[in-house]
Amino acid sequence: MKVSESLELRNGITLKNRFFKSAMSETMANGRNQPGEKHVRLYHEWAKGGAGVVVTGNVMVDRNALGEPGNVVIEDEKDMDILKRWAEKGTEYDTHLWMQINHPGKQSPKTMSKEPVAPSAIPMGEALKGAFNPPRALENGEIKSLVERYVKTAEVAKKAGFTGVQIHGAHGYLVNQFLSPHDNRRDDEYGGDLENRMRFLMEIYKGMRRVLGETFPISLKLNSSDFNQEGFTEAESIAVVEKMADMGLDLIEISGGNYKQPKMSTGTDSEVFFLDYAQKLKEKVDILVVVTGGFRSKESMEAALEKGHTDMIGIARPMALDPHLPNRIMSDDYEKMTTRRLTTGIKGLDEKMGPAVGNVYYAMQLKRIAEGKETQQHTNAWRPLLHLIATHGPQALKPKRRKRR
Ligand SMILES: Cc1cc2nc3c(=O)[nH]c(=O)nc-3n(C[C@H](O)[C@H](O)[C@H](O)COP(=O)(O)O)c2cc1C
Repeated sequence: MKVSESLELRNGITLKNRFFKSAMSETMANGRNQPGEKHVRLYHEWAKGGAGVVVTGNVMVDRNALGEPGNVVIEDEKDMDILKRWAEKGTEYDTHLWMQINHPGKQSPKTMSKEPVAPSAIPMGEALKGAFNPPRALENGEIKSLVERYVKTAEVAKKAGFTGVQIHGAHGYLVNQFLSPHDNRRDDEYGGDLENRMRFLMEIYKGMRRVLGETFPISLKLNSSDFNQEGFTEAESIAVVEKMADMGLDLIEISGGNYKQPKMSTGTDSEVFFLDYAQKLKEKVDILVVVTGGFRSKESMEAALEKGHTDMIGIARPMALDPHLPNRIMSDDYEKMTTRRLTTGIKGLDEKMGPAVGNVYYAMQLKRIAEGKETQQHTNAWRPLLHLIATHGPQALKPKRRKRR
């Protein structure tokens, strides 16, 4: 099957091809967390580049809970003018532009949150203690108002002209924390068995469906598992997708991991990280699936589509190096993209660096695209490393991970 084939969603909407540009946090908002012309230009380039769907970087629902400096926050309609421009340019060339909506929960760094919130007061764990303050448990009423925040952000997105939304339920952020029996030890209706741990996600989905209408695309990014013995398992993940498919979810994007187990970004170039899981999922549940993580060659993309393991090709990092990648692949003007690990040239220092340095490097490329400059394809970690330390201080390097990108 070809990457250029169109795809029809449950609600009759047609996506022009199988390329799904996955979320990448732009970290380009101003000091008041507003988007600006850089977002407009970046998303215009991606729209020109040919992807059927472009998902925005995570947009936060609460300005007191940021994942990184420069996150866009949408709590109300006050930035409607610039949001409309962003949506207008990002949907040119018949591109779908979906807003990813998120709350980091306890994964809000020390530099951003004195006391982050979470389902339960479970700290991030020994290796990450230096970078994150211990969270406090959310009160029952606070959970209900957070649900309303997710719904409000989605409503503003639709009003501005975004053509879909994505709930971020992966990578250890708040929705994922509710799903995880390790992070969620609540004894009210939001904790306990899977049905209760899913309640936060289900209420967000139902609230969004209510305000967005039956035909507006709502997708979910979900971990295949947390890769942690006490965390959210593969079987639970499949059960969540089953339930969400019954409720009318349009599409599920599969990823995995969190800050402790960064599986979403540590695989090597040649592997597609979550295909085995997607295969099992497709056998059990009737829903459109997008696998993201590791797709680099046209052959692996078309093989995965042909075997029916995925309905679309989720791609992130290569789209930061070449925003026109889908068009190039479709016209065969393309050599396999590599996204090699960054290095400082000093082994001990490389050992200390986590995936955060890689993320900074890719975010720097996004800024270059937004400024109309060529991207820089290199593996030198020094500039992103210094940028990271300047933004977060030396504690940004505290987390130790076994594998890096
Ligand atoms: C700079 C950067 C920022 C990212 N921001 C987000 C984000 O906001 N939301 C999200 O779900 N994933 C985010 N990701 C993860 C990607 O969407 C994707 O799951 C991951 O990079 C694996 O795909 P790839 O191998 O094609 O890069 C980010 C990745 C990078 C490199």
